[in-house]
Amino acid sequence: MKNITVITGGRGGVGKQLAKEFLLRGENVCLISRNEKGLEKAKKELEKFSNKDILIYAGDVSDETFVKAFYADITKKYRVTCLVNNAGVGRFGTIFDNNKEMLEAVFPAIVYGTILMTTYALPQMKESKDIVKIVNIISISGLRGFKFESLYCAAKAAQEGYSQVLRSELFGTNVKVINVYPGGIDTDFWKENRNYVSEEVQKTFAKPSEVAKTIVDTLYDKKSLILKDLVFEQIHMNLE
Ligand SMILES: NC(=O)c1ccc[n+]([C@@H]2O[C@H](COP(=O)([O-])OP(=O)(O)OC[C@H]3O[C@@H](n4cnc5c(N)ncnc54)[C@H](OP(=O)(O)O)[C@@H]3O)[C@@H](O)[C@H]2O)c1
Repeated sequence: MKNITVITGGRGGVGKQLAKEFLLRGENVCLISRNEKGLEKAKKELEKFSNKDILIYAGDVSDETFVKAFYADITKKYRVTCLVNNAGVGRFGTIFDNNKEMLEAVFPAIVYGTILMTTYALPQMKESKDIVKIVNIISISGLRGFKFESLYCAAKAAQEGYSQVLRSELFGTNVKVINVYPGGIDTDFWKENRNYVSEEVQKTFAKPSEVAKTIVDTLYDKKSLILKDLVFEQIHMNLE
């Protein structure tokens, strides 16, 4: 069986850059997101960097039927040695603007997706004789409340709470949980959120390539140490 790193939300943004960094370190990668054409495009781009396996699965990580079928399929040939829970959607506005449509945009990937993808990865991962990793891409918005981010902060705080308990219940096993808290990143994440972040402001954010390289460099940095939390400082955005 070959080892593989599974990255949710791997079609673009941080996920695609993470895939590139893992490929450059000789890993096989599997990308999941809902948009199949976007996945195929990402795969073509990534093939330039490595001849390792690049698998793509189109599906919704909040859909338990998809998640179960995904693991049933991938574990026939691969051992998932790293799961990156990266898929995420944001919606922003005042606490008076919130509605069910916004809730249903934000919570599925971040909360349901992280929990379902992890739950169904664990049976294989917990049997591993070597160290395996679950990397949760959370946000500084999971650590504190920012004005106009009520739904996003609520979802990220839920992901944060789950990730802390995950680490605690897996203490002493070979499954290590690494929680990552980035600040603003210059990705398409903001395209749907121009009411909050303009194109001009977005351009001042960290580049997804820098964020991804920092994360993967840190994961590979020391063989004898396991990083627990990686918190990025927000340099350009004055959020209160
Ligand atoms: N951008 C920022 O400023 C920032 C800051 C801190 C943390 N983060 C976090 O970093 C992560 C990556 O964000 P990004 O900036 O790279 O955003 P992005 O470019 O918008 O990428 C998000 C990815 O998630 C996928 N996705 C969304 N819902 C999904 C679902 N239900 N099932 C499967 N895939 C789904 C999207 O693909 P499909 O649409 O094809 O499904 C896309 O590939 C997110 O968790 C985000 O919250 C971002």
